[in-house]
Amino acid sequence: MIRIHSHGNSSVMQFETHALAEPQKGEVLLQQTAIGVNYIDTYHRSGLYPLAMPSGLGVEACGVVEALGEGVTEFKLGDRVAYAGGAVGAYASYRLMPADKLVLVPAKISDEIAAGTLLRGMTAQYLLKRTFRVHVGQVILFHAAAGGVGQIACQWARELGAIVIGTVGSDEKAAIASQYCDHVINYKTSNFVERVREITAGKGVAVVYDGVGADTFEGSLDCLAPRGMMVSFGNASGPVPAFEPAILAQKGSLFFTRPTLGHYTLTRAELVATAADYFHAVSRGFVKPVIGQSYALKDAAKAHQDLALRNTQGSTLLRV
Ligand SMILES: NC(=O)c1ccc[n+]([C@@H]2O[C@H](COP(=O)([O-])OP(=O)(O)OC[C@H]3O[C@@H](n4cnc5c(N)ncnc54)[C@H](OP(=O)(O)O)[C@@H]3O)[C@@H](O)[C@H]2O)c1
Repeated sequence: MIRIHSHGNSSVMQFETHALAEPQKGEVLLQQTAIGVNYIDTYHRSGLYPLAMPSGLGVEACGVVEALGEGVTEFKLGDRVAYAGGAVGAYASYRLMPADKLVLVPAKISDEIAAGTLLRGMTAQYLLKRTFRVHVGQVILFHAAAGGVGQIACQWARELGAIVIGTVGSDEKAAIASQYCDHVINYKTSNFVERVREITAGKGVAVVYDGVGADTFEGSLDCLAPRGMMVSFGNASGPVPAFEPAILAQKGSLFFTRPTLGHYTLTRAELVATAADYFHAVSRGFVKPVIGQSYALKDAAKAHQDLALRNTQGSTLLRV
């Protein structure tokens, strides 16, 4: 497994061997087959989201049920299951998990897609359908459209009938995003606020989904139509600085929210329904998630470096 003994850059990540424990009441022992790497793992490692030390890393994986703790009735030995969220520690070949955090993986979904994209897929689900309900014909702006969440969410928003403007940080990523966005803006080479105003004939967009954070926050507010919704769901470029609520009035009586997946999967029913909706979208083929890069578990540090350097596209996986 990968553990850290202090916060820091990717050099703090160590590959260690530990004895396996027996599953306790309500727990399941998983033999993991593939592990997802998410941007939040870098916040846990760096200390932006502090952890008690020493700590594992990772919040998402797919695996096979190896042993059942007392009282677990929803799963049986050999079931293929996945999880996304909860306590850290997914960067491991075996893991004990509370059974109520697991979902069954449908036969049509590969281990790689389940492990590498369930968290991003469930995030796209709640962002587009529950944080702000995207409607047919609405113009929306999604930042980092070639990233893990971005690829899934933009494809899904298109299926919901939205007109999707996606931003990206390179021409290579622009070529990828243009396959599923109506308009693509390279925000490194052009002013995305001006481009959004041009595309919308000055009206602005109904909603901005912003996982980039510090670098795009102000510009995102300037892209919104009056009474538009700013959904700040991540900090890839650093956290959004503190701001005066009055700015929301000045820029058009805007709404602002800072959601997290955990609050949209609070109950077992919400978790199962959110995962099922995502798996359905993939099975039906209108969301085609891409594993852009994969690494051996022991090379997890390299995955973190590539994420921070913006060298990745789509989702990122660790092979067990
Ligand atoms: N709130 C939630 O429930 C939730 C759940 C999942 C993920 N998230 C957030 O969603 C965002 C996307 O997550 P992801 O795992 O799918 O990552 P990702 O989009 O695959 O990677 C992050 C992307 O952000 C862009 N970016 C812009 N400025 C950056 C900078 N200074 N440093 C690094 N990247 C920068 C890069 O794309 P370009 O090169 O195209 O700019 C980069 O590829 C993250 O902020 C994550 O924390 C939030």
